[in-house]
Amino acid sequence: MLFEKILVAVDGSSASMRAVECARKMAKLTNATVILVHAFPKVSELLGEPNLSETIARHIEKAHDLVDPLAESLQAEGVQTVTEILQGPPADAILNVADARDVDLIIMGARGLGSLGSLLLGSVSQKVMSHAACPVMVVRAQQEA
Ligand SMILES: Nc1ncnc2c1ncn2[C@@H]1O[C@H](COP(=O)(O)OP(=O)(O)OP(=O)(O)O)[C@@H](O)[C@H]1O
Ligand SMILES: [Mg+2]
Repeated sequence: MLFEKILVAVDGSSASMRAVECARKMAKLTNATVILVHAFPKVSELLGEPNLSETIARHIEKAHDLVDPLAESLQAEGVQTVTEILQGPPADAILNVADARDVDLIIMGARGLGSLGSLLLGSVSQKVMSHAACPVMVVRAQQEA
């Protein structure tokens, strides 16, 4: 089978939501499992974060709010879905999950939430494309007419 495991990286941006829709279509075609990945920023003890565990818990809760409805909507259409919520730099999280789960394809947005300026790729998509062992499909946000 061409794509058995498809990783899709989600940061809540419209480009990443389009990436999810691509993953949905692709997974239906190839009967693949979709692995939804979201990374939240590392909470540093050194910065004097007063309620470290609560802050992390809040990040995880927000991550679930983003990823769980997507997982449910994929599963509702019969697409097997796994979610991975990780702490740390997003590109590393994506590359680590891709490696650990031996995925066949990564689908992600060209830009993300920090999409200021006219660069084609954000730093996360840039780094993943540079280092991924598998093909990477990059999706742009819908252009305004
Ligand atoms: N925290 C994250 N968790 C999971 N995937 C992410 C995360 N951040 C970015 N991505 C993925 O990477 C894609 C490109 O986003 P990226 O962050 O590279 O662009 P940007 O936000 O416009 O630029 P930058 O972050 O460099 O300012 C997103 O559409 C998403 O698929
Ligand atoms: Mg970003």
